[in-house]
Amino acid sequence: MTDPIRPALLDVDHLKVSFATDRGRVTAINDVSFRIDDGEFVAIVGESGSGKTVSLLSILGLTDRRTTFVEGTAAFRGRPILGLPDRELRRIRGKQIAFIPQDPLTALTPVHTIGWQIVEQIRTHETVSKEAAKKRAIELLDEVGLPNPAAAFGRYPHQLSGGMRQRAVIAMALSCNPALLVADEPTTALDVTVQAQVLDLLKRLRRDHGSAIILITHDMGVVAEVADRVMVMYAGRVIERGTAREIFAAPEHPYTWGLMASIPPVEGPRPHRLPSIPGTPPTPANIPPGCAFAPRCAHRFAPCAGLPPALSASGHDAFCFLDDNARAAGRAALFAAPETAA
Ligand SMILES: Nc1ncnc2c1ncn2[C@@H]1O[C@H](COP(=O)(O)OP(=O)(O)OP(=O)(O)O)[C@@H](O)[C@H]1O
Ligand SMILES: [Mg+2]
Repeated sequence: MTDPIRPALLDVDHLKVSFATDRGRVTAINDVSFRIDDGEFVAIVGESGSGKTVSLLSILGLTDRRTTFVEGTAAFRGRPILGLPDRELRRIRGKQIAFIPQDPLTALTPVHTIGWQIVEQIRTHETVSKEAAKKRAIELLDEVGLPNPAAAFGRYPHQLSGGMRQRAVIAMALSCNPALLVADEPTTALDVTVQAQVLDLLKRLRRDHGSAIILITHDMGVVAEVADRVMVMYAGRVIERGTAREIFAAPEHPYTWGLMASIPPVEGPRPHRLPSIPGTPPTPANIPPGCAFAPRCAHRFAPCAGLPPALSASGHDAFCFLDDNARAAGRAALFAAPETAA
């Protein structure tokens, strides 16, 4: 629950991110605001290019400062973090905020063993002996479910399977007991069984360590599995936001309907082809004025040429002009669809 007195774990306000490109400055993230409290599991969902990675990278100070302009504010436990010197940011990242990048190989160095890398990570942030750090590293590898953790400790990244590497990266992220773990598409490259195991691991992490988790994904099925709250992103904006229960029971934005229609049904025959949203999302250089989703939206009407009203400060809301009746009708069509599609 939101506590008005205690500062949020992470509080992001009016985040705007633009890039210097050959063709001038383009805005990739526009007016993104959200708040995460201790122990919450929040999913950020959207198609490729919607701005999921860039928004988190810029909050964590991981974008290239020479070409990336970050505006707005972000505070971690009440302390502003945008624009902090790299040295201070590094101290926060790894100790209090852990980031699992989209490609786990970028988090690992090929020339050192997994164990060495975790030990280094622990010893960067804590004064402990090598032996104590090694013991803890093996415990972590065990905790993330790597078979024979003592042997895995001595392996190089290329000697592990994709799923094992992903677990090793999670073990490294956990080594400092972060209050916030940001995981960028941690399951995309994995097969369904390993995917489920990694999601279980994230849920356990939250339960056993009390960490808050931000999970970035393009998969609504994954969101349904784990998230307390959901932010749907499109063309650099949050276009719907609510609890997972609200979003799955009563999605309000036509884009969210499109994402939900592409979740395979849990029961019954799998449709030959899952519906996908026609068209492709814009890139930052060609985001249309007004509602950026309008060109692909079956429900667009005259007002969509303008920008919808900003999302309410809290609660379930969508960045869309449709009124309650139109939203209810769109939802009804969505929920009726599986029978006709199968
Ligand atoms: N350094 C950069 N310079 C210019 N444009 C960029 C830069 N980095 C990202 N972009 C663009 O910003 C947009 C958002 O990118 P981002 O990586 O956040 O997407 P995403 O939602 O994480 O997608 P995916 O699901 O494919 O990982 C994309 O159109 C991308 O091409
Ligand atoms: Mg990404």
